[in-house]
Amino acid sequence: MEELKEVISPKELRRKVKDLAKTIEKDYAGKPLVLIGTLKGAFIFMADLVRNFKRKDLEIDFVRVKSYGSSDSSSGEIVITKDIELALEGKEVIIVEDIVDTGLTIDFLLKHFSLHKPKSIKVCALIDKKERRKVDIKLDYVGFVLEKGFLVGYGLDYAEKYRHLPGIYEVIKK
Ligand code: IMP
Ligand code: MG
Repeated sequence: MEELKEVISPKELRRKVKDLAKTIEKDYAGKPLVLIGTLKGAFIFMADLVRNFKRKDLEIDFVRVKSYGSSDSSSGEIVITKDIELALEGKEVIIVEDIVDTGLTIDFLLKHFSLHKPKSIKVCALIDKKERRKVDIKLDYVGFVLEKGFLVGYGLDYAEKYRHLPGIYEVIKK
């Protein structure tokens, strides 16, 4: 079994997500915008982020990727199991990711979506987890920076458990 230790409270999440939405809206004022959420982890973050937007003009899509490897770390072999359906050509795009760990997933997605010829493509990550980073990638919008730890809640899972929890918790294996 495992124990969960709260590292980010629901209140801190609400405040940060609101700030991120505000910053993004300012940067993209008057410009059409497409957000692409990464399933399943980013589903709650995406839902909260967009509900803080004031703009009328916004397109939303989702991508799902699978990365081979052990249950808590990716190997770098990444495949798309559900691709986006919107056209990205000439559009301003932001990938909305729950957590960037090795960076391999986001690196892959940036390269993949660049092939669609968007006008610009940026990354918004709720959590930037530094310790295991393998590729040097630029994250444009970051909620929280953490050094390490396996995290669950607010969309994040451990073997498909705990996605529904309202805060972010570190898994302490017993
Ligand atoms: P990366 O390719 O190593 O950057 O991994 C990114 C993906 O691995 C994230 O989108 C998550 O789905 C998963 N992941 C990485 N760290 C954690 C964690 O601490 N908790 C839950 N999922 C994680
Ligand atoms: Mg993810």
